[in-house]
Amino acid sequence: MAANNDPVKTMKQEVGKAAADRVKSDSVVGLGSGSTAAYAIEYIGNRLSKGELKNIVGVPTSFQSEVLAKKFGIPLTTLDAIDGIDIAIDGADEVDPQKNLIKGGGAAHTREKVVDSLANEFIVVVDSGKLVDKLGSSFLLPVEVIPMAVAPVMNSLSKLGGKPELRMGVKKAGPVVTDQGNLVIDVKFDNLDNPAELEKTINNLPGVLENGLFVGVADIVLVGEIKDGKPEIREL
Ligand code: 5RP
Repeated sequence: MAANNDPVKTMKQEVGKAAADRVKSDSVVGLGSGSTAAYAIEYIGNRLSKGELKNIVGVPTSFQSEVLAKKFGIPLTTLDAIDGIDIAIDGADEVDPQKNLIKGGGAAHTREKVVDSLANEFIVVVDSGKLVDKLGSSFLLPVEVIPMAVAPVMNSLSKLGGKPELRMGVKKAGPVVTDQGNLVIDVKFDNLDNPAELEKTINNLPGVLENGLFVGVADIVLVGEIKDGKPEIREL
């Protein structure tokens, strides 16, 4: 691997590679979204092209992962064409000690939750900066909402104690639009004490498609870190 001077990039590359090394031939693989999952997709493609892996099909969690899978030569399938998913590899924005997650930094959490939840083994790949004692400490909670329901959902999220803001585009005027054509509200909760309950409560609000709390979904969390100047991988 080419050396680089960016420790976060190195951690992401190494942990993506470590997860890609766990993929076995003859399997259906959920392909996550974000910069860390992108490295895993690249390495799975490399292993396929070297003949180290055979007979893999991927289920993309976003337009991004679909494009990357095509670029790196991973054949793709859809959920109606398969019986199950053997392994999924995906990133996260926060991971707590119970392996609960906040996801959705890339606005892809709805499809990610569908694919990651279906996998027999869901491996989360993160750099050490994503580890938190409590969810919501450093990252806002993303909520995907159908466009006509944005105002009432924002009101309801405020009543639940959150501070909601509509996610705006970068290098694009107006809000972020998801792969499904919806909008994302990012919510700051000062007391995210019961993620399991909050996940269900938010998903019960009319107009909400899915929120970024992933409670009890992750099987394995691989953490990329730098120790004594060298990248290391550990399992949480
Ligand atoms: C996208 C996600 C990503 O997995 C999450 O934002 C982590 O991204 P990165 O690996 O770039 O830090 O949930 O919706």
